[in-house]
Amino acid sequence: MELKHALGAFKPRTGLILGSGLGALAEAVEPVMTVPYGDLDGFPASGVSGHAGELIAGRLEGEPVLMLSGRSHYYEHGDAAAMRPALTALHDVGIERIVLTNSAGSAEPDMPPGSIMMITDHINFAGANPLIGEPSDARFVGMTSAYDKTMRDGLQESARDLDIDLHQGVYMWFSGPTFETPAEIRMAKAMGAHAVGMSTVPETILARFLGMKVAACSVITNFAAGMTGAELSHAETKEVAPRGGEKLSSLLRHVFAHQRLDADA
Ligand code: HPA
Repeated sequence: MELKHALGAFKPRTGLILGSGLGALAEAVEPVMTVPYGDLDGFPASGVSGHAGELIAGRLEGEPVLMLSGRSHYYEHGDAAAMRPALTALHDVGIERIVLTNSAGSAEPDMPPGSIMMITDHINFAGANPLIGEPSDARFVGMTSAYDKTMRDGLQESARDLDIDLHQGVYMWFSGPTFETPAEIRMAKAMGAHAVGMSTVPETILARFLGMKVAACSVITNFAAGMTGAELSHAETKEVAPRGGEKLSSLLRHVFAHQRLDADA
């Protein structure tokens, strides 16, 4: 089924993509309808544990939203454009701005697990690009202001109101699925990264290509490789993500309750 037919008269302009273990936000939505990705043309069949794979259309603190619970990752198939049909469908039903969330490792000693980092910029270290093969000149997307300033200001304002320590920094995209080596993390830091992860960057590129505004937040689930003696694991990501997810959920609820993503709010 096409997304526009599934939605009928429901016309939100805000989208969200939930990272692994960030289900708290899904629970904050007053659902109008929930549709499994399998029923929606072009939506990905996600195979990562901790990712649900359903679209929730509903209201978040009154704001009509489309929430994508579950995403396709580059490491699942090597296709950086796997989210293109879903993001195109969102754009085609009128989504103008999107909030991307993920779990990430921290490269900063003062940004421990459980922290939230708002992404101010990214480094595409995976080197893949979802627009490779796009024939039109629209493929030459400017990435100077990839993460929208108004949306970022709104998130910071809400964080201040809630007394949440909202870190800001550069997210470096590694393809995964392996975690990084300690040497790679030393390199990431030297190159200006504050957090590392395996998602989001292709979605940011696609959303900007489609003309949507983007904000993105990482839930820090661990110190990156080599920063402590510990080995990293997906089990840890899944265990810690809900803790930070609660904080991120409060933050986003406040942002929508006070319409802080709008320029004139
Ligand atoms: N590296 C990459 N991706 C991640 C990490 C990490 O340390 N933690 C959660 N996602």
